Amino acid sequence: MKSSLQIWHPFTNGALDPPPLLVRKAEGAFLHTADGRKIIDAISSWWVNLHGHANPRIAAAIAAQARKLEHVILAGFSHEAAEELAERLSRWIPAELRHLFFSDDGSTAVEVALKLAVQYFQNLSRPQKTGIVALAHGYHGDTAGAMSVSDESPFTQPFRSMRYPVHRVHSAYCYRCPVGLKRENCHIECVQQLEKLLEEQSGQIAAVIGEPLLQGAGGMIVHPVEFLQKVRHLCTKYEVLFIADEVLTGFGRTGKMFACDLANVVPDLMCVSKGITGGFMTMGVTLCTDRVEEAFRSENRLHTFYHGHSYTGNALACAAANENLRIFEDEPVFDRISTIARIHGERLAHLRGMHQVGDVRQIGTMGALELVTEDAGYLSSLRPKLYGFFLEHEVLLRPLGNVVYVLPPYVIEPQQLHHVYDVIVEAIETLM
Ligand SMILES: Cc1ncc(COP(=O)(O)O)c(C=O)c1O
Repeated sequence: MKSSLQIWHPFTNGALDPPPLLVRKAEGAFLHTADGRKIIDAISSWWVNLHGHANPRIAAAIAAQARKLEHVILAGFSHEAAEELAERLSRWIPAELRHLFFSDDGSTAVEVALKLAVQYFQNLSRPQKTGIVALAHGYHGDTAGAMSVSDESPFTQPFRSMRYPVHRVHSAYCYRCPVGLKRENCHIECVQQLEKLLEEQSGQIAAVIGEPLLQGAGGMIVHPVEFLQKVRHLCTKYEVLFIADEVLTGFGRTGKMFACDLANVVPDLMCVSKGITGGFMTMGVTLCTDRVEEAFRSENRLHTFYHGHSYTGNALACAAANENLRIFEDEPVFDRISTIARIHGERLAHLRGMHQVGDVRQIGTMGALELVTEDAGYLSSLRPKLYGFFLEHEVLLRPLGNVVYVLPPYVIEPQQLHHVYDVIVEAIETLM
């Protein structure tokens, strides 16, 4: 159907990028396009889908909820689906995280965490603690605050004037070590920069934010567990809140329900979104400890957290999230995750031997390879060629510049995942 009103697609340049493909329906790991193609969604549609497209259980849960209560204002009211979600989530998150604040997506979950951290110290009469520390290569979303804590990139370049200043410290990008060491004999020296900063300026710093163990959009960079543990330790030592952005890593992506679980780390604030509804509905959640929440319970009305979005705690999204968690409880989801992780491991071990491949990285259901090219980075000329090649072979992969990664829905069949890797090998051999 042609309309005079045209959809402006995200991350898409109308002059350079191919026109969008119309998807008629989807099922499991496959997208069925209007022109008759069956494309494997090897990136879970921007990392959201867990149990397959059009999963009948989640679809039915949303439909049932829609007939009962679609939405109600969450200020002054609550509803059963939201209460059930709080209870179900509490079975998976660290016991210390006892409060849940709803928002709309990953970016707003991050905005909420940052605002909570700053107001927390304000409410405690320490208003000078406003600074935020974030990691090199970090990505936390596209709204102004989330963009400020994200590292500089082609995404943020036009908005320098809108980004508030943050302290930027090294991340544990071992392939391109920021302090020139090799992982085999390093002692996570890259974290010393954060330590020095906190030693000198923690009196003016509210929080450190980071993607635990896996920095996604910054290039699928996998950190040693010790890096996360040291960051947590330093935050505690210098009385700074630690915000774990688990928007990508949450809900099994790294092999455990949350990346923080892999490191036995409990953050003060945790942001989740993407997989929370199994990829069906948009929802953000920021979790925090009693200590944080208590600072907002006060006789002083100005200590209230004045933040909320119209669709906060939407009942349809809560119903989808509840069914997602029920699937975790009664289907062998972690067996599926282990199978994906095993195949990533096998295939990446072979890819490592190709001269075009500089580095391979894996954590749980995420497998990535960094290709050797003179123009490394998001705008690498390799990227559009790879993207086009993959689509021609009916595989949806969106390389981050010269980094190709596979992050499939958990229901992908082993032979489908092997096929994705076969196409990657063919692309490298053909294009490089
Ligand atoms: C770690 C992380 N945080 C936040 C976001 C932003 O989430 P959203 O795109 O839902 O706003 C993303 C999105 O990719 C992300 O990967």
